[in-house]
Amino acid sequence: MRLVLIGAPGSGKGTQAERLTVALGIPHISTGNLLRAAVAAGTKLGREAKAVMEAGKLVSDEIVLGMLEQRLAEPDAEAGFILDGYPRNLAQADALDRLLERLAQPLDSVVLIEVPDQVIIDRVESRFRIEGRADDDPETVRHRLSVYAEQTAPVVAHYRALGELQMVDGVGSVDAVLARIMAILPASAGTTD
Ligand code: AP5
Repeated sequence: MRLVLIGAPGSGKGTQAERLTVALGIPHISTGNLLRAAVAAGTKLGREAKAVMEAGKLVSDEIVLGMLEQRLAEPDAEAGFILDGYPRNLAQADALDRLLERLAQPLDSVVLIEVPDQVIIDRVESRFRIEGRADDDPETVRHRLSVYAEQTAPVVAHYRALGELQMVDGVGSVDAVLARIMAILPASAGTTD
């Protein structure tokens, strides 16, 4: 099962991917988590990405694609994956299409988690108070939402045009949203093909 989760920052992609990874037995691959790990480790890549992430902007396509290719080459991704945070613009969507074609691993499903902006702002504000994530301050969140509207919304249109997009309402309890996603996944979900 190869699944892409799309949604605005704070829509619940990471939360749902963590649940889905348990339910489906395939890894959760988050480009945001990979980048945060590089920042925490102080690698060259992490040092380059840090300021860009803290400003709520997108890290360069080359850096993120390189990281993703490396992660997809790990053995646990052979059985499938849940991609969270990639692709985020049309160039990344094209790169992913080409990469998966080369690996003969087509996507099974692209799920858009829909949450109104005000619900997102409230959720992320509450996480900022508790965890202090650098890019969760209200001004940066507003910028991340505008980057999503400008650069990631066309990716949604791309998958819609290909007939691959499915949408779920992301408002409600984490369990309720998970149930909605599980209900629309292809029948092969949970099997490793
Ligand atoms: P990334 O880590 O991908 O962050 P994001 O998508 O902007 O946002 P979040 O992780 O905050 O949102 P989420 O949808 O995963 O929601 P979550 O489950 O956490 O990216 C961070 C940065 O890295 C980017 O800005 C960019 O700089 C860089 N980057 C990453 N990928 C890149 C790429 N491909 N190209 C270039 N740059 C890239 O939930 C949010 C909060 O809501 C949590 O507190 C959670 O507990 C809560 N919550 C979740 N679900 C519910 C629910 N149902 N009800 C109530 N609360 C809920």
